[in-house]
Amino acid sequence: MEPMQPSNNSPPRWKVPFIDLRATWARERHDLLGIMDEVAADARFILRQEVEELESRAAAFLGVKYAVAVGNGTDAITLGLKVAGVGPGDEVITVAHTFVATIASIVHCGATPVLVDIGTDFLMDPQRLQEAITPRTKAVIPVHLNGRCCDMEHILAIAARHGIQVIEDAAQAFGATLDGKHAGSFGLTAAFSFHPMKVLSCCGDGGLVTTNDEGLAEHVKRLRHHGQRNKTEIVHFGVNSRLDNLQAAILLYRLDRLKETLARRRHIAQRYHAGLSAARGITLPPHPGNPGDRYQDIVSTFVIRVPDRDAMQQHLTQQGIETFVHWSPPLHQRKSLHLSASLPVTEAVSDQALSLPVFPEMTDEQVDWVIRSILNRDHA
Ligand SMILES: Cc1ncc(COP(=O)(O)O)c(C=O)c1O
Repeated sequence: MEPMQPSNNSPPRWKVPFIDLRATWARERHDLLGIMDEVAADARFILRQEVEELESRAAAFLGVKYAVAVGNGTDAITLGLKVAGVGPGDEVITVAHTFVATIASIVHCGATPVLVDIGTDFLMDPQRLQEAITPRTKAVIPVHLNGRCCDMEHILAIAARHGIQVIEDAAQAFGATLDGKHAGSFGLTAAFSFHPMKVLSCCGDGGLVTTNDEGLAEHVKRLRHHGQRNKTEIVHFGVNSRLDNLQAAILLYRLDRLKETLARRRHIAQRYHAGLSAARGITLPPHPGNPGDRYQDIVSTFVIRVPDRDAMQQHLTQQGIETFVHWSPPLHQRKSLHLSASLPVTEAVSDQALSLPVFPEMTDEQVDWVIRSILNRDHA
């Protein structure tokens, strides 16, 4: 990668996109075209062997008994809620600091979303969960945002005490662990997304439901395929939410390389941490974890907090660095969604959060350029 506008005396400037999907394609193009050609030449398009192989390999990787591939992460949450029995009259507790799909899935089941606050780690605060439980609470959806597991020890204990189901939104957390257990292996069901922006992604939409309950896995399988048990038997109405075979083949290829992808992302996060630890007025996200630590994050996003966030974003744009503001304004403050809640930490965090670039092809020079640009802002 060439530096941007090098000059004779000053250090090189680097152009840094937020994510570089074209670079990923260029790196994998030869292999993926071969794989796609093989699948297409044999007309293996819907629910064929690649889908089954992905389901069994993903389940083994995550340490769960069953994985069912579906059309996208939103359907994975919705179907997971449905098979858990969530429906009209039920309340489901989750957070507002998430992608709209988490809350939309609750609404699609006819249930009522109840929103609770987060901690400064951007994740559900178990204390707030405890306070929000009512006799109508049927389930809780902890969202493992930014590739870090929620405090599942306390969330599971509270849920068990009150007899409520745990449905994990692990859309951003394929590979993240807490105490050696994978995100997606804690709840009654869990949902993953394979959207192109995710750490394990396909070339389009894709999702996965995980569970340790055979009956629930079979139910999701039927629901994703119009309620069909086999070619002749329709057990109930369902939807069309199958993962394409071509996408499953791409995911199998990328699953084989996930360890390297995660190592690179964690290296970038560690470099940000080392370089920015002394930066004034900036709060860093939790460290992604050293070997042996309880939390092992996958750094799906690296989100700093800066009081004058918009000015920082503008400064970084001028330095050739693309950043992103996620989830602002938070969902409960969007009038169109008719949600109501008072969530002081969510509101404070949403005003300050700025996502820095992290992608596997990002070079150390690019990471250092981001660090230097942040540190030098006052002198720019
Ligand atoms: C936290 C979270 N939940 C749910 C989803 C929905 O996934 P999808 O876009 O695959 O439907 C996403 C991602 O887009 C997400 O980030």
